[in-house]
Order: sequence, then C-alpha cells, then structure tokens
Amino acid sequence: MREAVLGLPDQLRWAASLDPGEIPAADTVLVAGMGGSGISGDVATLLAGEAGTFCTVHKGYGLPAWAQTQRPLLVAVSYSGNTEETLSVVEEAAAAGLEGVAVSTGGRLAEVAAAHQWPHLQVPAGLQPRAALGYLAGTVARVLEAAGAAPAQGPALTEAAAVAAELLGPDLTGPAAGLSADLAEGLGDRIALIYGGQGLGAVAAQRWKTQLNENAKWPAFWNVIPELNHNEIVGWGAIPQLTRRDVGIISLRDRGEPARVGRRFELTAEIIAADVGIVGEVSSQGQSILARLISLLVVADALSLELAARKGIDPLPVEPIDKLKRSLA
Ligand code: F6R
Repeated sequence: MREAVLGLPDQLRWAASLDPGEIPAADTVLVAGMGGSGISGDVATLLAGEAGTFCTVHKGYGLPAWAQTQRPLLVAVSYSGNTEETLSVVEEAAAAGLEGVAVSTGGRLAEVAAAHQWPHLQVPAGLQPRAALGYLAGTVARVLEAAGAAPAQGPALTEAAAVAAELLGPDLTGPAAGLSADLAEGLGDRIALIYGGQGLGAVAAQRWKTQLNENAKWPAFWNVIPELNHNEIVGWGAIPQLTRRDVGIISLRDRGEPARVGRRFELTAEIIAADVGIVGEVSSQGQSILARLISLLVVADALSLELAARKGIDPLPVEPIDKLKRSLA
C-alpha cells in the first residue's frame, strides 16, 4: 500500500497523457461506481461544476428514475469490473438505450461495454481499487473533458501530480509524513471525524474517512460545513465526557472555499470545543481544483498508513469487504 500511495503522482501523469478516444458529447453525466471507484464520480462532479455541466454520482443498484427521462451519458467505473451494484446500473442503462462509457481493469464491465459497443477505458491492474485513485479519477476526468463536460484536464492532472510528489517526498519523507505523524499523535485512540467545506472539502472529507476505514481499519466519519451547522453542532452536548475523550475532529480547509464557509469553520470550533476533541486542520495547496483536492488526499493516505503502522495493522487487505462480497456471490 505504501508503494501504491507513492505511485499516485505517476498515476496522475499517466492520466494526463491518456487519449480517451471517441467519447459521446454530453451536457449531463451520471457516474456510477462504488467505494474506491465511486469516489471518482465525486471528483467528476467538481470538475463538471467548473464547466457548468450537470454531473452526479450514483452509488447503488439500478438506474435512477431521472436518468430515464434526462438521458445522461453514463460513466460506469469499477476497478475490478465486477461490482454488482455498478453492473446493475449498466444493465438498466443499456436496456434504456443510454450512451455509456466504461472504466475498469477488465472484468464483466469490459465484456458488457463491448457487447453494447460502449468505449471501454482500461486502467492498469494489480492494485487495491482505493489505491488506484489517480488512474480512475484521472481517466474519468479525461472522459468528461472528451465529452465536453469539463474543461481540459491535462494541465490540472500534471499540477496535481507535482503537488502530490512534493507532499509525499521520496519514500514518504515529505511534508505529508510530518503532518500525518502530528495528526496521528493528536488523534490518539479517538474516532476520527473529518469536516470539509461544501464542494471540494466534502469530497476530500469523504475520501479521508474511507482511507482511514480501509487502510488503518479505523472508525471514521465525515460531515460538511455549512450543513452540519444546522444539526450536528447541537449533538455534542449530551455526553461530553464521552465525546470529548473519544471523538477527534480534523478539518479540511480549501483556499477556494467561500469566505462565509471559512468563518463557519472558526465559529464551529469555538462552539463545540468544550464537548468534542479538536485535533487539527489541514489546508489545500495548488491552483487547480484537482491539485487542491489531491493535496488534501495525500495527507489522508499518509495518515492512514501512519495509523496502521502504529497499530501494527496491514493496510492492504479489506477482509470484511471481501467476506461480504463472497457471501452475496
Ligand atoms: C477496495 C475498495 C473498495 C472497492 C469497492 C468496489 O480497495 O476501495 O471500496 O472499490 O468494493 O469495487 P470496485 O472498485 O472493484 O468496483
């Protein structure tokens, strides 16, 4: 997993030089995918937002009813190509005559794409899906670009690769390692709660949570400002002796966040500080949306490895996920 984390800049560079081929033009996009593949859809929503395109992500079975009438371009993403929820979306989309694009290492998704003459973009195999973020999100970004649903992504992918390489440093000796060691120390044995700002911060917070879950096997949750200002801040008052000791909040700040969101981060910390642990804050770097997002995500990768190392846990296997998939098969 450490090698895969260190490979992120190369993955992003690979995507920067990818030729996605003929992709149908689209002004509405639906990305379908689960887990480490589905997060590419969240990234896509940010990139499409730059072009004013409607793009949403579907993480579940079947085609959403709105897609029957609005007829988006379906971008189906599954690293293995065998995730049943995503395959069920593809089946219904094909039956409804939607145009589609498939992204996977192969698997059933590649076969179904061939059967429906959908473009299939093959990403390199041999990784855990969550460790292939640069390949998957990068490919989806290039697909959106080719569909005219997002601006050109080559320069942003190249910038994101440079930012990631700088933060990771050779053999994980860069700033991300120092930052994650501090965060791990501050978090201690507490449940991690990741707060992000609307948009980019929310996508980052979600990925932080899942990387801590899967790599460090750590209990982690996420929420977004401003929405949590309308509910969650009230929920720290009843059992502060427990929440102060057992929950640690890490805030993800983005230089592009609206000023009012920034102010809300400060006020939120003041209001809840007595009742819940505040561990620290991480700020994005870089210019493009993609680079700023990746700058936050490499710290999550480093922290997940750091927490795993502190517990003597192997970050690679995700036995409960595999067990569930086997039981359903
Ligand atoms: C495992 C991981 C999972 C998978 C998910 C879907 O590393 O991140 O969340 O991504 O179970 O599988 P794929 O990505 O093969 O469609």
